[in-house]
Amino acid sequence: MRKIVIVWCLLVLPLTGVLAQSPTDARLEAKVDSVVALMTLEEKIGQMVQYSASWDVTGPPTAGNEGRLDNLKKGLVGSMLNVTGVKSTKEAQRLNMENSRLKIPLLFGYDVIHGYKTMFPVPLGESASWDLDLMQQTAHVAAKESAASGIGWTFAPMIDVSRDARWGRIMEGAGEDPFLVSKIGVARIKGFQGEDLTATTAIAACAKHFAGYGFAEAGRDYNTVNIGMNELHNTILPPFKEAAKAGVLTFMNSFNEIDGVPSTGNPYLQRELLKNEWQYNGFIVSDWGSISEMIAHGVAENHKEAAYIALTAGSDMDMEGNAYETSLAELLAEGRIQEAMIDDAVKRIIRVKFQLGLFDDPYKYCDEKAEKKELYSKENQQVALEAGKKSIVLLKNEKGVLPIASTVKHIAVIGPLADDKDSPLGNWRAQAEANSAVSVLEGIKKYAPKGVKVTYAEGAKLTTGERSFLKHVTFNNDDTSGFEKAIKTAKEADLVILVVGEDAFQSGEGRSQTDIGFAGVQDELIEAVYKANKNVVIVLMNGRPMDISWSADHIPAIVESWLLGSQHGNAVAEVLFGKYNPSGKLPVSFPRNVGQEPLYYNQKSTGRPGEIPDVTYSHYVDSRRDALYPFGFGLSYTSFAYKNLSLSASSFSGDGNLEVSVTVTNAGKVAGEEVVQLYIRDLFASTTRPIKELKGFEKIHLNPGESKTVSFTIDKALISFYTRNKKWEAEPGAFKLFVGGNSVDLLETMFEYKM
Ligand code: BGC
Repeated sequence: MRKIVIVWCLLVLPLTGVLAQSPTDARLEAKVDSVVALMTLEEKIGQMVQYSASWDVTGPPTAGNEGRLDNLKKGLVGSMLNVTGVKSTKEAQRLNMENSRLKIPLLFGYDVIHGYKTMFPVPLGESASWDLDLMQQTAHVAAKESAASGIGWTFAPMIDVSRDARWGRIMEGAGEDPFLVSKIGVARIKGFQGEDLTATTAIAACAKHFAGYGFAEAGRDYNTVNIGMNELHNTILPPFKEAAKAGVLTFMNSFNEIDGVPSTGNPYLQRELLKNEWQYNGFIVSDWGSISEMIAHGVAENHKEAAYIALTAGSDMDMEGNAYETSLAELLAEGRIQEAMIDDAVKRIIRVKFQLGLFDDPYKYCDEKAEKKELYSKENQQVALEAGKKSIVLLKNEKGVLPIASTVKHIAVIGPLADDKDSPLGNWRAQAEANSAVSVLEGIKKYAPKGVKVTYAEGAKLTTGERSFLKHVTFNNDDTSGFEKAIKTAKEADLVILVVGEDAFQSGEGRSQTDIGFAGVQDELIEAVYKANKNVVIVLMNGRPMDISWSADHIPAIVESWLLGSQHGNAVAEVLFGKYNPSGKLPVSFPRNVGQEPLYYNQKSTGRPGEIPDVTYSHYVDSRRDALYPFGFGLSYTSFAYKNLSLSASSFSGDGNLEVSVTVTNAGKVAGEEVVQLYIRDLFASTTRPIKELKGFEKIHLNPGESKTVSFTIDKALISFYTRNKKWEAEPGAFKLFVGGNSVDLLETMFEYKM
């Protein structure tokens, strides 16, 4: 315990330092200070408490929650989560505003991960669009719908770099690459928060989970994380640093430990780095109960010790942890914490409330008319369709099976997910109506040209029981009685669209799997259908990379459709019929089998990278070591040729830079979009470096025969990394540079950086 006290004493100093302030900041700070100066200790601690909706705010409290309602009325609650809709949020705000002494507005938080009522693709899927404007737009629409429903704060974006397909929460992030995750994180933050935080459509974003949560050992959710400083700084932290720079209003810490220290109680992460070094002045909310979970971690004996560790480490708000409200006053009375620590946390929370304009209008998100108009509007559906089609990745397309030819007169749509109107909504579906998505079957029927017959057979089901967000669900239905109809339907058709993959509740929180193949009897169904008709397109629905090796070997076309949200079926149909030329690229590697996980393109060389005649090099004896479909990969109905990779100079030094350019030509017959990707490799450095690192990308549109020259700038910042000196630095030396349409097929050149 003493050790932690010493750490706090060292760290508290910078808090008292004066940061450079603009006049607006100074005015804001004066307001924040004036509110905090009026507060009693009890009221201050109250601001650091967040309750989940455990009673119906518009009705009487359920047994055991009377005390909480009382606290709300006394102004002893800073925030609530899971209270949704204008009616409820307005009532909770009214109870607080009309009864509390200081009338500090409540902030309502909610997990708006990929939409509120209108669902967009699950974040991993949407990341495959590599379209930052689009992702900013979908986040903005999600913010508009949430704000119109009383919500002022989303617990998104999740910017955990995640490389393990077994981890169910891989669906919530932007994949395996820190550069891509950083860019997407910033785009989503901009979308949620908008340009003017006081606007009624702007909500606070939350960079989560700080930090390391995506590196859970063996892909098992909440598991231990063992990473060193190099991995932490070079891979995990960059998206968080960018989020802080972009002005994200809040951070959420994480459930996991890193090297023996739970992140919620980690002063290095929260105080030293985030609050001091990065000068972050928003607040950090704990993850759900993560403060009290330090008891289960075995670092705190009780709630009081957990509160002590969390506060001294820099956690500002206790989400449903029951630790701060019960223990902070006692800790202060005992002299173990100082009021300055509490004041710092409270100021951060009050500051965000001022920034959002809640002190001017506590009911700014409570407009019934806006709620009616905004939710699930036609315009929002249109954005969902755009996002859906741009997120689709064409993984395989042999013999020109796609787009569906005009000679195809009979399409069989088969599979357990083919007419599923619920799974496309994904996990973390906020207020989406169950079964409200357009199924693939519905989309195909709608888009099929006149005269084309569409028949359907479910073939198999995934689960026997009830599906739900919180309950355990198993996907092991072994009933094959639907096969006969599926085989018959396949035989009669010119083309089969086979819709298989994962149910929405196979990915998401608590949904880790050791098997990332097809659940239930889908493998058997795929083989049976393929035997009946070789002209098969697999439409894959999933929230994680799957093992699809058999299909990749046999099935002529594979369309990765993820879980695309409300407009799933329409988006898929636009791609199948060629109304939209697919342009998505994988934000995560697809393995050949689960044994390769965690698998990522930006791995290290190791000391034994090359293939040698004996077995003593880094490989598997029973599988290739590379990805089945690599990071950045995705086909189009056209093809793109890369030529003339050139550099403005062969080296640059100091704060200079060099320009890279490449000419990309649409060499096919239809217009299409291509994501031009830039990678580098630092050949020799003070620490080992990845064999390739994404450092730039641009999505371009090209008509048939058209060429465009795409340029990138390489500078010191771009080649810097967390070096052996424990600092971000650019080290002199030779670099390889690659440009192309995925992380494997690349043009290559070299440059040098001189000090
Ligand atoms: C998750 C967070 C989420 C929170 C609130 C936790 O279980 O880890 O990501 O924001 O619950 O629902």
